[in-house]
Amino acid sequence: MGSVIIGTGVALPSRVVTNDDLSAIMDTSDEWIRSRTGVQQRHIADPGVGASDLAAEAVAEALRNAEMAPQDVDVLITATMTPDQYAPGIAGMVQERSGLGHIAAFDLRQQCGGYLYGLDLADALLASGKARCVVVVGAEVHSGYMPYGASWEILRGERPGPVDPVDHAAATEARGWAVLFGDGAGAAVLTTEEDPGTGFIGSVLRTDGSHADLIEVLGVGFRHQPYVDTAQLEARAHWPSMNGMELFRQAVICMPAAVREVLAETDLTIDDVSLVIAHQANDRILDAVRKQLGIDAELIPSNIARYGNTTAATLPILLHEQQAAGRIRPGSLVCFTAFGAGAHWGASLYRVPGTR
Ligand SMILES: CC(C)(COP(=O)(O)OP(=O)(O)OC[C@H]1O[C@@H](n2cnc3c(N)ncnc32)[C@H](O)[C@@H]1OP(=O)(O)O)[C@@H](O)C(=O)NCCC(=O)NCCS
Repeated sequence: MGSVIIGTGVALPSRVVTNDDLSAIMDTSDEWIRSRTGVQQRHIADPGVGASDLAAEAVAEALRNAEMAPQDVDVLITATMTPDQYAPGIAGMVQERSGLGHIAAFDLRQQCGGYLYGLDLADALLASGKARCVVVVGAEVHSGYMPYGASWEILRGERPGPVDPVDHAAATEARGWAVLFGDGAGAAVLTTEEDPGTGFIGSVLRTDGSHADLIEVLGVGFRHQPYVDTAQLEARAHWPSMNGMELFRQAVICMPAAVREVLAETDLTIDDVSLVIAHQANDRILDAVRKQLGIDAELIPSNIARYGNTTAATLPILLHEQQAAGRIRPGSLVCFTAFGAGAHWGASLYRVPGTR
């Protein structure tokens, strides 16, 4: 019995912020962002919209496309690093808003690796017979991290300017990471198919906690008493801190290694793979992964120009787009790979149901 994806859906806030828009509120440029990362714009949620809202929208579309009713779902897996609130996580909110039954629903915290972990867990639940229909959704609202202050009003077109110098300085201080991220959600509905050769046929999931400091948010945590205070906020402990260069290096080492490992485990080679759905953090990372695997550029598509890095949502958004473009062909082999904060990474292989 194989676990197969029978429907996908996405949710992207309608508001778009371009690199030029960001250049108006901090010291950066379209040229810098585009040449270093490939990002040209990102979708931005309005205040009051949380990851759970985008997740519920993506789940609704995925269920429609799968021609399944909310009552058919018996497990919901939500992956996010930007939950609506500190606790509880978003799983219950998405379960309730999506009209799902009183099913098992839980959050994963594997950041950019979250969706890959979610797919593997869904496969395990389906393969064991513990579940018959699982929804996996990745959703992020990164905008809450961005220290843009009153400059948000300029980005939202509510007033023309000028930018307050204090807001400009804070945004510029954050530019190393703030320009990379965008908001969005993607979901997939999985169920089982009789043919044992189809669906998820192999996976490798890896963690190395010694790399947790490559990208982390140190503030607002229970090692600190009280768990949040003004001293932490003044020290910017609630901002992500990132070692971009080393993160880049590890992503480029770990993703191809995981792909090679899962191929070896399944007695397949890279020549058997029709499509690599890779985490969208940076076009230069994708390019390095492509070179290491020795594959053509069209086999490892990118949509980072339009969305930036949407963390747990990048894999399902790209999957949905590739599905819509007719690139998830019957009988073909799709490889998923991701690397994220933790560090958590891995790769999995998915044989699309149907014959070529
Ligand atoms: C972040 C990243 C794009 C930076 O690229 P880079 O070529 O390593 O650039 P550096 O960090 O060395 O910065 C170079 C200079 O640009 C400046 N800079 C940083 N961000 C900038 C921005 N948005 N605009 C303009 N200049 C910027 C830096 O201050 C630095 O200036 P200095 O040399 O005067 O000190 C790259 O390291 C990367 O993509 N890493 C992976 C990040 C990632 O994937 N994060 C998600 C987690 S899964």
